[in-house]
Amino acid sequence: MKKLVIIGASGHGKVVADIARKNGCSEIVFFDDDESIHECGGYPIIGKSSEAGTIDSDVIIGIGNAGVRKRIQESVDENKIVTLIHPDAVVADDVVIGAGTVVMAGAVINPGTHIGKGCIINTCSSVDHDCKVGDYVHISVGSHLCGTVNVGDRTWIGAGATVSNNISICPDCMIGAGAVVIKNIEEAGTYVGVPVKKIK
Ligand SMILES: CC(C)(COP(=O)(O)OP(=O)(O)OC[C@H]1O[C@@H](n2cnc3c(N)ncnc32)[C@H](O)[C@@H]1OP(=O)(O)O)[C@@H](O)C(=O)NCCC(=O)NCCS
Repeated sequence: MKKLVIIGASGHGKVVADIARKNGCSEIVFFDDDESIHECGGYPIIGKSSEAGTIDSDVIIGIGNAGVRKRIQESVDENKIVTLIHPDAVVADDVVIGAGTVVMAGAVINPGTHIGKGCIINTCSSVDHDCKVGDYVHISVGSHLCGTVNVGDRTWIGAGATVSNNISICPDCMIGAGAVVIKNIEEAGTYVGVPVKKIK
């Protein structure tokens, strides 16, 4: 990977750029639709997300919103989408990680786990053994999935939340910051508290 286009010039994009640089990427540029900004993390913004399909280099989507991340990733040739793992993340040898997923500093992913495409495994989070994490899932800063947890597509596990072992969470859920999930969640929605209760 020499040249990388990061789509999404946000704080999250800035962290993605740092991981790319630590992986030896020598040329980093951003695409973003906000015309009022011209750089991110010291790297130039040279295009818009609508041009994503025309990019002739490696690409990663640095956008927090799962729906937007999915839409843009699907508009790019999948052979161009890269996976980024911070050198200070700990990932077991047999872990499978899909295209477009970013694993941040201090994250731990243990054996037997499968992570889908377009996911964010954020700073100091952990995904323990034999988990199945769907596509475009966000495991936020400092949150933890115990062993054999299934997380459905596009679900967002909030900062510092914990999901107990052997639990399944369906697609399109928001699990609030600091929540604890101890029973399966079968209906999409927003869940908060210890243990979680549905609020939306
Ligand atoms: C769950 C969340 C999405 C709800 O946001 P929201 O839809 O705007 O909801 P509101 O702020 O209107 O709160 C609705 C109610 O839920 C409560 N609530 C919201 N988030 C809560 C949380 N994490 N834990 C406990 N209660 C929470 C509020 O106090 C409020 O209760 P009330 O009706 O008794 O006053 C949000 O609070 C949250 O936790 N986001 C996670 C952010 C995060 O983890 N970022 C990580 C970036 S890496």
